[in-house]
Amino acid sequence: MPKILIKTPKEIERIRDCGALAAETLSRAGEMCKPGVATREIDDFVREFTLKNGAIPACLGYKKFPKSVCTSVNEVVTHGIPGTYVLKDGDIINIDVTSILNGYFADTSETFFVGKPKANAEELVATSKECLFEGIRVCNLPNARFSDIGAIISGICEEHGFSVVRDYCGHGTGRAFHEDPTVLHYRQLLPGPKIQQGMVFTIEPMINEGTWKVRTLSDGWTAVTADGKLSAQWEHTIAMTRHGIEILTLAR
Ligand code: MF3
Ligand code: CO
Ligand code: CO
Repeated sequence: MPKILIKTPKEIERIRDCGALAAETLSRAGEMCKPGVATREIDDFVREFTLKNGAIPACLGYKKFPKSVCTSVNEVVTHGIPGTYVLKDGDIINIDVTSILNGYFADTSETFFVGKPKANAEELVATSKECLFEGIRVCNLPNARFSDIGAIISGICEEHGFSVVRDYCGHGTGRAFHEDPTVLHYRQLLPGPKIQQGMVFTIEPMINEGTWKVRTLSDGWTAVTADGKLSAQWEHTIAMTRHGIEILTLAR
């Protein structure tokens, strides 16, 4: 059984403060995604901006991850390491920002277009965004369970002929980067736990153009699609409050 921590309104306030900074960082990083920009420049920005605002980039040194942010381009599903790669027209890039402010984590990502998007990329990115927001929406239905999230997301993907990544999932967050529960983005046989007041977690569907299968490169981090086709992802940290679901990773 997962041990899902219940957060007090005060703790949720802390995560919201951190979320506002993570969202602001992500939005500014997104504006940098132009042809000719190297992913290490995005990393430099995220590290400096985070530290300047009194926070810590959660990725830096996490399980020996070497950089402050994940930059996942085209067929990279997740955990891309910023470096010498130079963005070019037509690329898609997911930037995944996790900040720690006053001991609390907030985790958010978006997929951005570099220059002019190709039609297939546009459909994939729009679908991954829709999957995130529909996943959030079902949490607000009466008696919602974690398993409802994967059910709605799978349905949306199937309509488009896309697939849902199974090897990486959403997660509880708060005083640790990854807490219970594991939030699956695909359909499950058994109903999951009920989503209750005080629970704080991410939804972060990774949607692939082709197969859902992934493989990890020799750097030990970069996960790519097994068939080399595109992958897109969006992520928010959300909380169940007494007024329903609140997105905590919004810029103010
Ligand atoms: N932000 C990722 C997530 O959504 C985790 C990145 S871990 C890192 O859970 F080490 F790669 F940074
Ligand atoms: Co996450
Ligand atoms: Co993330």
